[in-house]
Amino acid sequence: MSGPGGDDIGTHGAARPVDHPVLGPLPAAAAVPFTFEGREVVGRAGEPVAAALLAAGVRVLRTMPRGGEARGPSCMVGRCADCLVTVDGVPGVRACLEPVRAGIAVAAQRGLGGWGDGAGEPFAPPDDDGPDASPMGTLIEGPR
Ligand code: FES
Repeated sequence: MSGPGGDDIGTHGAARPVDHPVLGPLPAAAAVPFTFEGREVVGRAGEPVAAALLAAGVRVLRTMPRGGEARGPSCMVGRCADCLVTVDGVPGVRACLEPVRAGIAVAAQRGLGGWGDGAGEPFAPPDDDGPDASPMGTLIEGPR
């Protein structure tokens, strides 16, 4: 299925509205491929990394330093720090403020993060069934 303008993006699940009742149809935008945890994600030119990841079904972007609780984008304006990720080896990047760029390697931030994190190590979000489970869901939809 193609989105407005014939592009192939804008149709990833229900997270990206393609025909808003007030704002109208989603305008065409260039596809911007990047990776999250080694998985290819296609964003739209001009949108932040967090928006592209939410549209791709990714809900957990980091874990807390002490208890390891899952966190995902919340405020989307750079205030809550629940969206911290590692971008090209640089930790502490707010995904809601970072624009998508072709070819960047984005990784979930484990705890406080560290320089170079996310290169090849599997990310294990907390068990969804525990009492401290996040309502945000799992890191990536699909089989683990
Ligand atoms: S979602 Fe709150 S700082 Fe990014």
